[in-house]
Amino acid sequence: MRFLVSAGPTREFLDPVRFLSNRSTGKMGFAVAEAAVAAGHEAVLVAGPVTLPTPDGVRRIDVVSACEMLAALERELPRADVLVMTAAVADWRPKALSPVKLKKAGMAATLELVANPDILKTLAPLKGRKVFVGFAAETGDPTEEARRKLVSKGLDLICANDVTVSGAGFGVDTNIVTIFGRDGSRTELPLMSKRAVADHVVAKACSLL
Ligand code: PMT
Repeated sequence: MRFLVSAGPTREFLDPVRFLSNRSTGKMGFAVAEAAVAAGHEAVLVAGPVTLPTPDGVRRIDVVSACEMLAALERELPRADVLVMTAAVADWRPKALSPVKLKKAGMAATLELVANPDILKTLAPLKGRKVFVGFAAETGDPTEEARRKLVSKGLDLICANDVTVSGAGFGVDTNIVTIFGRDGSRTELPLMSKRAVADHVVAKACSLL
């Protein structure tokens, strides 16, 4: 099987030195790509700006912004069987991008934003028989939001993590994930390494193909 995995944050620049982003380090997504290769699959990793080394056997494409991530995934998707979106894509970007550093004195106190494309929703028409897996970063019980995103983004599986819980979410080497299936299934995984979570995600995705 061919896995296409997104990882890390996106950066949305307003000038050459300032950007909007989030706390994602890419660890969850890199673990999924590594687990896919370890299970005998091919893996292409579309990575936002992160400092992690590329796992052995993984083909990596580096991107910066949400629009670049969408373009790379659109190019790669036709050859993929499974898409796993662990990336924390910025939902908004500054309306204007200045080619030179903005001077403090000339800057407005409010920043005008425009919505970034929802990557999963944009790719949904290309899904066909491919398996689409999303992640949901929530603060508090993720159940309701995860189920809503599963349906609204046309996913087969969504892996929900409460990023306020110690040992889960951004930056750490472990995660606590509940996997919701389109068939109504719910699998609660205890605290485990991101690599072990990734093994579950890869196995579950393959079971749907
Ligand atoms: O990278 P780490 O430090 O290891 O942290 C891991 C993680 C917390 C980033 C990861 O476990 C996680 O939860 N990833 C999803 C983060 C996220 O953006 O969640 P969301 O609930 O905002 O988005 C839901 C889904 O839609 C995600 O699959 C996301 O990739 C996708 N999305 C979001 C916005 C957008 N414009 N387009 C999208 O496709």
